Amino acid sequence: MQQESLQYDFGPDFVWGVATSAFQIEGAQHVDGKADSIWDSFCRLENTILDGSDGSQACQHYQRLEEDLDLLQALKIPAYRFSIAWPRVQPLGRGAWNEAGLAFYDRLLDGLAQRGIAAHLTLYHWDLPQALQDEGGWGVRSTAYHFAEYAKTLAQRYGARVASIATHNEPWVVAVLGHETGIFAPGLRDRKLAVQVSHHLLLSHGLALQAMRQLGLDTPLGIVLNQSPIYPATNSSADLAKAKLEDGSLVRWYMQPLMQGSYPADVLAHLGGDAPQVHDGDMQIIAQRLDFLGINYYTRNFASSENPWQPTPGPLGVTAMGWEVCPDGLYELLLRLQRDYVLPPLYITENGAAYDDELVDGQVHDVARTEYFRLHLAAVAKAIAAGVDVRAYFAWSLLDNFEWAMGYTKRFGLVHVDFANQQRTVKDSGKWYSAFVQAQLARTRLQAVA
Ligand code: FCB
Repeated sequence: MQQESLQYDFGPDFVWGVATSAFQIEGAQHVDGKADSIWDSFCRLENTILDGSDGSQACQHYQRLEEDLDLLQALKIPAYRFSIAWPRVQPLGRGAWNEAGLAFYDRLLDGLAQRGIAAHLTLYHWDLPQALQDEGGWGVRSTAYHFAEYAKTLAQRYGARVASIATHNEPWVVAVLGHETGIFAPGLRDRKLAVQVSHHLLLSHGLALQAMRQLGLDTPLGIVLNQSPIYPATNSSADLAKAKLEDGSLVRWYMQPLMQGSYPADVLAHLGGDAPQVHDGDMQIIAQRLDFLGINYYTRNFASSENPWQPTPGPLGVTAMGWEVCPDGLYELLLRLQRDYVLPPLYITENGAAYDDELVDGQVHDVARTEYFRLHLAAVAKAIAAGVDVRAYFAWSLLDNFEWAMGYTKRFGLVHVDFANQQRTVKDSGKWYSAFVQAQLARTRLQAVA
């Protein structure tokens, strides 16, 4: 292990972490004054969640905070990415604050600090207060201004204690899966609305950065995007055009406004009457300087004009999500972003895999997950060697958890959770990642004295 890890050089200050999100682990749905989020409501609708489950218990992380912090410490993970549940700290999404909810995150941050673990905060990982949805949610402009208030208050309270703050996690998912295909909360199906939502999410990000920067904090501020390279299924001109357009909606639709202050012309032309309403000055607000850009990467995508189209499985197989294992896609994505944009430092804020794990005699021999991490870490190292400025890597996820529309049927954890009794068991992949990180840190210490 040591030797394997030592082949790669991630640089002296590289941040090694694991990630979670509030709704997926906390539970405590209505405890201490927390109100419903759109995910609480969405889970109550019929046929939205594969196993009919919800997030009311999840990993009971809210109640088991100390145990989970001890787990992080036992795994010797130096950094932890988590999100705050907006309706826990501000039940209606505007107006009154819920002190009991705010105090939970104080305990979390204190617990991390006591254990020497750096905290990386995400403000919005999809759990909008239902009360704001009732007023139009991300479809209305006012939500962006409420979000900026929320960001400012949280930065005021927690900003000095965290190592970074990301505004949004994966705005593409919120816009498209939440408002166009409707497979995620709030379950709406309206492309024009989805496009407007994407604009309001970006606007809210810019407003939040402005509001947080007024506080004079020196905490790095950024945003997290889900990205994939998109390949044409064949060389036909129809597939090439489709791939360009899909890349336009997934990658360029977010990168170009954030980095260059405009939407891609080809996507706008394609949207026609569904193009977003943009007010004067919005694009400058969106294009605030970023201190970092978070990238979540799981797989590559194909675009085909045939519908449906079945890709031939790649040589490394697929995960339990049906996602192809494709570490080269991560390498290519990073190099492409570097080529096409003037980038801030990059953090890999999520990367990981679901497999059908089996807990036998207190062990989970999840060889395939370890292999997934090994290959993707090698891809990151290769990208760094090629000159891409990657500063952090967060494995998704610390714990098996509520995997959105898949409920508890998909396990992404480095740690197995038995949802019947909430018992946590470190998987082989968790032990491997822990050892990999230790070897990296030891190498850095050696270099520092040399
Ligand atoms: C990402 C989400 C994260 C998790 C992984 C598997 O899109 O950000 O919450 O569900 O996928």
